Amino acid sequence: MCGIVGYIGKRDVAPLLLEGLQRLEYRGYDSAGIAIHASGKTGGLKTAKAKGRVRELESRLPKRFAGTTGIAHTRWATHGAPNDENAHPHVDAEGKVAVVHNGIIDNAAELRAKLTADGVEFASETDTEVLAHLIGRSQAEKLEEKVREALRHIEGTYGIAVLHSDFADRIVVARNGSPVVLGIGEKEMFVSSDVAALVSHTRQVVTLDDGEMATLKADDYRTYTTEGSRTTSSPETVEYAAESYDMGAHDTYMHKEISEQADAVDRALRGRIDDRFSTVHLGGLNLDAREARGVRRVKILGCGTSYHAGQIGAQMIEELARIPSDAEPASEFRYRNPVVDPDTLYVAVSQSGETYDVLAAVQELKRKGARVLGLVNVVGSAIARETDGGIYVHAGPEVCVVSTKCFTNMVVSFALLALHLGRIRDLSVADGKRIIDGLRRLPQQITEILAGEAEIKKLAGLYADAKSMMFIGRVRGYPVAREASLKLKEVSYIHAEAYPASELKHGPLALIEPAMPTVAIVPDDDLLEKNRAALEEIKARSGRILAVAHQEQEKADHTIVVPKNEPELDPILMGIPLQLLAYHTALSLGRDIDKPRNLAKSVTVE
Ligand code: M6R
Repeated sequence: MCGIVGYIGKRDVAPLLLEGLQRLEYRGYDSAGIAIHASGKTGGLKTAKAKGRVRELESRLPKRFAGTTGIAHTRWATHGAPNDENAHPHVDAEGKVAVVHNGIIDNAAELRAKLTADGVEFASETDTEVLAHLIGRSQAEKLEEKVREALRHIEGTYGIAVLHSDFADRIVVARNGSPVVLGIGEKEMFVSSDVAALVSHTRQVVTLDDGEMATLKADDYRTYTTEGSRTTSSPETVEYAAESYDMGAHDTYMHKEISEQADAVDRALRGRIDDRFSTVHLGGLNLDAREARGVRRVKILGCGTSYHAGQIGAQMIEELARIPSDAEPASEFRYRNPVVDPDTLYVAVSQSGETYDVLAAVQELKRKGARVLGLVNVVGSAIARETDGGIYVHAGPEVCVVSTKCFTNMVVSFALLALHLGRIRDLSVADGKRIIDGLRRLPQQITEILAGEAEIKKLAGLYADAKSMMFIGRVRGYPVAREASLKLKEVSYIHAEAYPASELKHGPLALIEPAMPTVAIVPDDDLLEKNRAALEEIKARSGRILAVAHQEQEKADHTIVVPKNEPELDPILMGIPLQLLAYHTALSLGRDIDKPRNLAKSVTVE
């Protein structure tokens, strides 16, 4: 949520920052802004801001806007409406300090009242502006001290970058709860909330920890704590090349990411399968066999799509390892004073590794002494660092706000975890082998499903007129239905409800009529006849049905036939055509596919 980017070096900074903002736009896209140390005789800070997308900002940049040091921001509004005034960077009363900020300052109202009483006039409604004034009013000599002093007044989360016109040779940055990554170049330095904005310039990065600050100069950087003690941080190399962050031949990131799923799953499996013992190696779990045998329950925590992946994961663990398991939205869990049991294994699941509700749940669990694993996509992210061990899902960069390939890889990673726990307990060699064979078939089967895109596109055209849609599934199919319903609503804005098929006659059947189509998940498993009965009930009420099944469904108006795998792994495949259905429905309705209204990719605030 919100993206910050900064540069210090010899190059013309504005185009560089605009390019960086474009790459970070998925983090927030209601307004954008930029501040630079202006070159030339006048010097000083210059800022430009605009409501709307980065292209608006670009069109509004003044003609003379040259410099080689600057910071920029793309916003997802929390305090104050999305408008020019509330766009970052925010400046102090004298226009000497410029700040970009990702996060929330919890005591902003109180600080604002104090500053106002001291005669400060505010130009925006944002929480961030208090920080600019606090830094500007500090009497400390060095910029680092001014920032440190200001941060002492702040309660809340931040990733910030600060310019000061009296210190034109540096950018000072700080992190507490919102990501800050330094990009280390040759006689130039970068800072960003995300490696996405850095990789086209450098793959050498330093990720700041909470409570850490850094000073960037063109040819040097140093990191230290907010208390001022030096920290050591050697650069690491980013795993993915710049092209992985590009759209390539696709028109949208969503389409690109759906199309990448066979390769992504292949990556999640690579180097992990142990045929000798019909199990998998998950090097990062930090859980030995004795500890794994001691696990009495598994509790999975995530939000949105990741929570749905966790629901499927919980079923897999229960089925394969016979450990009671469930999933819960992290956003609910953290507020209900949960009983934390030492024999429960907690698993935090997140694409970004930044989602605040998940991070806060992890921190609460750790505080209470629980063992928490992470199932995360972004390497080195906050949740990955905060957990005791875990599994990287290796989906590769996911840029579209709507998660697709990451969901699939999360579910595959849960299958690996379930197999690992199962084989340490009572899952037989034969069943372990059966699951491994099934996992190996997935990439080819995904390719087959994606080859049916033209047909799914036609179906999307037939259902795009619906005002509302019902998604149903039973047991393994229910979380698939939930995820498909979320996908449709967030990208197409069509209202969608997901229900267990078994619950239909307990209420939702009242909604069924020709104008309310149903998407039904109908795998060829031991519940096939039960699912067919649900289709009969819907048909009897003149409901239109689109089934996702392993064979044509007589009662359905249309069936998307998907290849059959092992029953435990079928949920991985059954969701994929419905990603395409959501995509083509949204496309036919002219939606902004990669940046749906009101959403942002990383929800780093409550
Ligand atoms: O980065 P995370 O996986 O923690 O994000 C969790 C949710 O915010 C995310 O899955 C959200 O629901 C997406 N928009 C789904 O497409």
